[in-house]
Amino acid sequence: MNRICMMEEVPEREARSFELSDGNTIFVTQRDGAFYAYQNLCPHLQVELEFLENQFLDRDQEYIECSSHGALFVVETGECISGPCQGESLEKVGISVHSDGGIYLTEE
Ligand code: FES
Repeated sequence: MNRICMMEEVPEREARSFELSDGNTIFVTQRDGAFYAYQNLCPHLQVELEFLENQFLDRDQEYIECSSHGALFVVETGECISGPCQGESLEKVGISVHSDGGIYLTEE
């Protein structure tokens, strides 16, 4: 099985990007002790979300934010609630946390 990272690499209300073996980039974020992962692609123009490394959240660390045109996405669902792609969603990546503290991909 494919381990993405260890839990401690993604602190609460922060995000980290990781490159998968297929070349895709995803990011993982933690909210209220749960972990969420998405493809690093904005549904607006299919570009990467971050401008600075690992900067996926807005200033208040409340929403995921696209740096290109400021679209805001709900951390738990990936739904865009503000911006040019309102109503669309980030593509979720299936992950699970194992007893070894690792975060693993659940799908290929
Ligand atoms: S490319 Fe993300 S909001 Fe436009």
